[in-house]
Amino acid sequence: MNTSPEIILDCQKLTKTVVTGSGKSGAKPLTILQPIDLQVKSGESVAIIGASGSGKTTLLSILAGLDLPSSGEIYLKQKPMHTFDEEQRSKVRADHVGFIFQSFLLISSLTALENVMLPAELANDDNAKEQALEMLAKVGLGDRVDHFPSQLSGGEQQRVAIARAFVSKPDILFADEPTGNLDSKTGEYISSLLFDLNQQQGTTLVLVTHDQKLALRCQRQLTMDSGRFIEQQIMAEVS
Ligand SMILES: Nc1ncnc2c1ncn2[C@@H]1O[C@H](COP(=O)(O)OP(=O)(O)OP(=O)(O)O)[C@@H](O)[C@H]1O
Ligand SMILES: [Mg+2]
Repeated sequence: MNTSPEIILDCQKLTKTVVTGSGKSGAKPLTILQPIDLQVKSGESVAIIGASGSGKTTLLSILAGLDLPSSGEIYLKQKPMHTFDEEQRSKVRADHVGFIFQSFLLISSLTALENVMLPAELANDDNAKEQALEMLAKVGLGDRVDHFPSQLSGGEQQRVAIARAFVSKPDILFADEPTGNLDSKTGEYISSLLFDLNQQQGTTLVLVTHDQKLALRCQRQLTMDSGRFIEQQIMAEVS
């Protein structure tokens, strides 16, 4: 393990293999992630790009402590997440991590405001409501706070998910296609919010994205192919 406090995320030889199929043909192991090494510095912004099915979401879930690797080591804020059970990992997540999922995972029985307040409440924040209202206003949903997810458009639900990820002021924010469902203007605004957070609060960003512009705003771009990082330079689009 790299013990430098500058390294917020340190992964060594992470792999993920799942067992698929059953019955006559028998269960078959499927390797989704090949051994992956990755170090991210505190305050850094990193984009992970690559074709559909290359393993980006699987990797992000492990990096954020939502899932466990099949083998390898992962230290988040110096904590050995690969040795932790769900309860221990959820404590690290509540204290340090924000995430925006590809499928927003809003709680359908809670309003926009209640969804955004949840992580701040879990982190025992006294003024969870004020912070949640402020964040919802920032993502342009000040007039939708009492709507349930089913009463919001896809892009609006995505913005609620973004407000929820921001509200507990995480040390590191993982986002899976944060601008995937937004029109280009709202997408640009949301990416600016992400980078404001990165600059003003030193929040480390690890983003999975198909959006080249967003990827190029990050300090580092990593390309995944068949469960591993490959060398590939991405170029700014010439328009
Ligand atoms: N629990 C699982 N069981 C079996 N196969 C899985 C499981 N989770 C993911 N996979 C497979 O692993 C591969 C990587 O999936 P993943 O969701 O990480 O891809 P991705 O790079 O995020 O793709 P996309 O850009 O389409 O979101 C896919 O081929 C997927 O079908
Ligand atoms: Mg994905």
